[in-house]
Parts: sequence; structure tokens; C-alpha cells
Amino acid sequence: MTSPRPLIAGNWKMNGLSPALAEARAVADGVGVTTARVAICPPAILIHRMVQALAGSTVLIGGQDHHWDDAGAFTGDTSAAMLADAGAQLVILGHSERRAGYRESDDVVGRKVLAALRAGLEPIVCVGETLEQRQAGEALNIVRSQVRGSLPDALAGTAFSVAYEPVWAIGTGLTPTTPEIEEVHQAIRSTLIDMFGEAARAVPILYGGSVKPGNAAEILHASEVGGALVGGASLKAEDFLGIIRAV
Ligand code: PGA
Repeated sequence: MTSPRPLIAGNWKMNGLSPALAEARAVADGVGVTTARVAICPPAILIHRMVQALAGSTVLIGGQDHHWDDAGAFTGDTSAAMLADAGAQLVILGHSERRAGYRESDDVVGRKVLAALRAGLEPIVCVGETLEQRQAGEALNIVRSQVRGSLPDALAGTAFSVAYEPVWAIGTGLTPTTPEIEEVHQAIRSTLIDMFGEAARAVPILYGGSVKPGNAAEILHASEVGGALVGGASLKAEDFLGIIRAV
């Protein structure tokens, strides 16, 4: 079974006004030949203009979240079909900032994954333990149970990825050691194989949390690491390109 093609995805979070489109274009212009798939996930309102700004490039565009229903009376929300209609091909779901800040349970994340599949979006499903959970020796159990609870059976045979993002490593400059990353990624891989069979060896398992040009090579070459989900360092083309080049 061949290794999955690495995915390097930038999560702009709630950052980026019109001038930031030039930064995305600089990524597209600088990406060159790479074995990785590269994606930028800007705020939803920028997606359509980013599609235009990146015309002719191989850089994929994704959303960051969407509602679990396809349409209806949900003031202020965005549906998966709207992201796809604007030009998104992927979507980040279950990010810890959604799980913690908006109390999204595994069940809610799973329903959002189903909505993504209905809209033809490729989900990047995030999991990860808090510092307290890691210190209590619970990291592997938490991550395994998030994978089981957030990934519906309907993902079998579809393109998706899982992102391991320890909550304590996001935006903090802290990262787990390489053996710690490998231990969790191996646990995710074996859970995926349990759930989806041998085909799950082709699912990229991304690492996310304070990935920078300076630590990207070590992280990306760790066992079972199939790419990165990058927050802060994806906002500057030079930094994001430095990570892409480390694949
Ligand atoms: P960070 O964020 O790279 O800024 O730590 C990662 C993420 O939240 O996806």
C-alpha cells in the first residue's frame, strides 16, 4: 500500500482581509514542484475571491467549519454547500477552537462530516487532547475516542484526513516531542484501520500545533505523519512556503 500524498493545509482562522489575498497568491507562485497537496483555508467570506486570486494554481481552497444541516433558519451560519458553491474543496471540522469555544461534541462533528460529504467537500477532522488530559495520561484514550466519535461510517471509501492537534500546542509555540507525536499518530492509524479496514492506511494523518519552518522537517518526517495543519505560520507566504518545502 502506498503512503498517502502529504497534505499541508493553512488554517487562517479569523484572520485575513482583502490585502491578504496577495499573500495567498505568493504561496501559489512560490509553491513550485512538490509532492504535497497544498491548501489554504481562509475565512468563508474570502473563499470566492481567493478562487479568483489563485486561478491557474494547484493550491486548493478550503473552509474552516460549516453547519450540520444543508439549509434553513440558522442565522449567521454557513452551509457546506455554500462553501462548495464559493469554490472550496476541503473543510476543517472539529477544530479544538470549535469543540471548546462552541461546545461541539463528537456527535456534532460527525454530523458536520456527513454534511461535508453531501456537499462534496473533503473533510479534515481535528482531534487532540488538552494539557490536563495529557498530564493525566489520557491523551491516547481521548484521541482514540474522538476519532471513533467524530468519523461516521459514511467516510469509508471517501477522501478525508485526520489532524492531530494537541490543544496545548496550538498557538503556544510548544510542540510535543517527535516520539509523542508518533505515538498518537500510530494510535490514530490503528483506530482508523479498526474502523475502516486496511484502506485506512491511505488516510493522511496531519500534525497541527505550532508548526513552523524551523520544526517542519522533523515533524513531517516522523512516522505516520502525513502532513500538517498550520495556523499562525500559514498567514505569511514565506513561512508557509518554508513548511511546504520541508515535506
Ligand atoms: P498554530 O495553529 O499553527 O497557530 O499553532 C494550528 C491550528 O490551530 O490549526
